[in-house]
Parts: sequence; structure tokens; C-alpha cells
Amino acid sequence: MEIGISILDVNEINNLKKLNELNNKYLHLDIMDGKFVTKKTLPFKDIKVRTNFFDKNIDIHLMVDDVEKYIDEYKTLKPEYITFHIETNQNIENIIDKLHNLNIKVGLAIKPNTPINTLLPYLNKVDLVLLMSVEPGLGGQTFLDITKSRIEELVNLKKQFNNSFKIEVDGGIKPDTIKYIKDADIIVVGSYITKNTDYQKCLNNINEAINDCKN
Ligand code: DX5
Ligand code: ZN
Repeated sequence: MEIGISILDVNEINNLKKLNELNNKYLHLDIMDGKFVTKKTLPFKDIKVRTNFFDKNIDIHLMVDDVEKYIDEYKTLKPEYITFHIETNQNIENIIDKLHNLNIKVGLAIKPNTPINTLLPYLNKVDLVLLMSVEPGLGGQTFLDITKSRIEELVNLKKQFNNSFKIEVDGGIKPDTIKYIKDADIIVVGSYITKNTDYQKCLNNINEAINDCKN
């Protein structure tokens, strides 16, 4: 299981540098437009400056309506993944093709109340499904119980699709909640790490919880 760290609520350069020192794979960038979700993130140029402190693989989570506009900016960060929401009213197939033509892996994110089977038409085309375990738009929320059955449903579909896509879970993840999402390929952790002072200790606790699930 790989770990992505969300820097949504981290502003100080020193803290960004400290987070980069942690031994995890992904930098998870939450991008919000003030329309698809209420909050609006900083302009691209400011986000770009923050990413300069990192040498991790970049995993972008677009919570926006105008997905293509954001892809045009964020592709320049050379992300491994760009994930957008199935709930946007854009042409999903076109966006998938656009990202693949740019050699960027495609993720499709799904909000807690959207039925899992709405993903079906796209599962043979995407590289990743991002299962939201909170409502998108805000860090520091509580992991939703409904995620337990939703990840089971998604794991079954993943088998039916010969493991052709990965599962990422995002929102409210801390050591206690990892047992419910042990089948995820990537987990996103935000406030559990970034709102504490000892980042390394928190990451160790997360890794311990992951190991406990294997036994
Ligand atoms: C929520 C974001 C998440 C979130 C993770 O809209 O997509 O990435 O910030 O932060 P925590 O772990 O605090 O829920
Ligand atoms: Zn996210």
C-alpha cells in the first residue's frame, strides 16, 4: 500500500520541506475551484511553488467543474496521476483520452453518495478509482462508515476487471481507519500527519497500522 500526503492545509515552507523528508511515495495535491466545491485553492503559480519543495510522485485530485482548463495548467507539473470527479458534467471519455494522450495516468474520483456502479462504463479505461471517504472539499473530516461497504464493492469490480485499475481512498484516514480500507492500493493522509508536530511518528503509526492488517 502506498501513501500520499495531502498538503491542503500546509503553508509554511519549513513544514513542506519536513514533509518531503518523509519516506512515502506521493504528494497529493487537492485542487478546488470554488464551484464544484465551495472552497477555492490558491492559483496555479502558488501551488507550483509549493511543489518545488518536493521530489515525490505527484498525484493531483481535481475537485473542479472545468476539468480540461485545470489539466492544461497542471500537466506542466508532470504528475503521475490526474484524478477528476465522475460527478462533473463534462465529457468523461474525452478527458480520459486527453490525459492518456499526455501520458498521464487517469483517476476517476467518486463522492460518498454516488453509486459505485456509475463507474462501470469507465472502468476499462481508467488507471485508478479514487474512493472518497469524506465529502470532498475540506480536510480534517471524519471517515465515513459507508466507505467499508463501498470499498468491498469496488474490490469486487476490480477483480472482474482483472486488476486493471488501482484503488485510492481519500479522507479522514488515520491509524484506526486503515483496517477498513486494507485493500486500497493508495491511501491519502492529510490532517492526521500535517496537523501534528511529529510528522515522522505519525507516518510510523500509519505504517504500523498497515502492517497490522497484513497479519
Ligand atoms: C478532501 C481532500 C482530501 C483531504 C485529506 O476534499 O480530497 O485529500 O484533504 O485530508 P484529511 O486526511 O485531513 O481528511
Ligand atoms: Zn484529495
